[in-house]
Amino acid sequence: MIDKKEELNRICKAVIERIKPKDTERENVKAITNSITTNINTKALELGITANAISVGSTARNTWVSGEADIDIFIMFPVDMSEEDLKEKGLTLAKSVSERYEERYASHPYIHAYFYAAGTEHEMDIVPCFAVKEAALLKSAVDRTPFHTEYVVQHISGLEDEVLLLKQFMKCLGIYGSEQRRKGFSGYLCELLILKYGSFVELLTNASRWQYGVRIDLNDHGKYRGVEPLIVIDPVDPKRNVAAAVSLYSFCKLIDTAREFLAQPDRKFFMPREGKPMSDAEIRELVKARGTEFVTVMFDAPDVVEDLLFPQLRKAEASILNLIERNEFRVYRSDVTVEGGKAILVFEFLVWQLPKLKQHMGPPVTSEAHAAKFKIKHSPPYLIENGKYAVEVERKYTDVVSLLEHELNSCSLGKDVSESVETGYEVLKTEEIRGGLGYFFSTYFGVPV
Ligand code: UTP
Ligand code: MN
Ligand code: MN
Repeated sequence: MIDKKEELNRICKAVIERIKPKDTERENVKAITNSITTNINTKALELGITANAISVGSTARNTWVSGEADIDIFIMFPVDMSEEDLKEKGLTLAKSVSERYEERYASHPYIHAYFYAAGTEHEMDIVPCFAVKEAALLKSAVDRTPFHTEYVVQHISGLEDEVLLLKQFMKCLGIYGSEQRRKGFSGYLCELLILKYGSFVELLTNASRWQYGVRIDLNDHGKYRGVEPLIVIDPVDPKRNVAAAVSLYSFCKLIDTAREFLAQPDRKFFMPREGKPMSDAEIRELVKARGTEFVTVMFDAPDVVEDLLFPQLRKAEASILNLIERNEFRVYRSDVTVEGGKAILVFEFLVWQLPKLKQHMGPPVTSEAHAAKFKIKHSPPYLIENGKYAVEVERKYTDVVSLLEHELNSCSLGKDVSESVETGYEVLKTEEIRGGLGYFFSTYFGVPV
């Protein structure tokens, strides 16, 4: 038997060889980054705008996975500038150097641009921010980023390969990225975890023993009192948990897979999912074997960025679950997704049909006044159940589809979702589900990759 440690080393080395950017890619990325920052700074001079463009993010820290470079450029403006000016001047400068771009908004305005160089397309985020004195004095949500870059650049030297392994491992698990859709580990968080534990394997060894609320504080300066599963104090801002976006699921998925990988190291953990969508027929067959029923609520995805949309979809999901349960149907699992311009809420049912009969509970028999009122309002026979009166009434909705078709608008759905639902929505059962959900279902059912 090969020594476990040697086996781990062999696999990690082979993976690094594959995912580490080669010299040409590195040079291309650096060249484009330099030319764009120079162009922005020249343009700023021309227009008489006080601004300084810098390179940040994984391309500035040499921690990007080959072929997936997303170049991040920040334009720093004086702190005393107004937010309106920052936005106006920032976007003007960003647009002036980009040929093809989209304006994107989450909580903060920025430009996502595309550049062709050396035969490949490069994507770039150009983000205006305030040049604050220290990260904790941030004026806008993104002002810490230049400090992150400075911190990581100063400390990461020699550990870049370990960061790459961790990013790739998490990407393949579907838990990389702090966006609301994923609620996973951001690139910066990966870098901090490697700084804490010194290597990818050492991180996994520790992660496999993590408990809820594990606290990592590289500078021992944390003033954060939140209760998320994972707490990693930002080295540049003691009040911030860098892992605040990591969901319970992402946290547990890392722990579980860390154990599996360490027990049986394999390169397959670093291979992108073979993206095999289930066909409609496969979905139906599997559901038939489970004996459950799926009901989806589908409507046009509102035209807002995913970071705003997904929290609304989860809120709608919770509110609809509440409606369903109040009406005595039973949901087994549920989830939300956005595919091909449609927002889809998916519910899997243990109980989706109910008899006509419904028991309506009344007051305790001992409450004389309430009892009298109850008997005026409801006709006999009166049952006595666990010390309370009850009558049998006719159920309004015996099928969950009709409940959802009639009562969805009584749920609190969030502003944009609510507006879209008002223009129309479809409630479909397993048999009626058509196309587009193949990837969703292969993940939902945990089909092995
Ligand atoms: P990116 O999302 O581009 O991440 O955010 P990244 O670190 O460059 O990693 P990859 O390789 O592109 O996936 C750019 C910077 O914005 C800050 C971090 O400083 C990050 O490096 N950021 C981003 C956060 O602090 N938190 C976030 O949730 C996202
Ligand atoms: Mn990036
Ligand atoms: Mn980016």
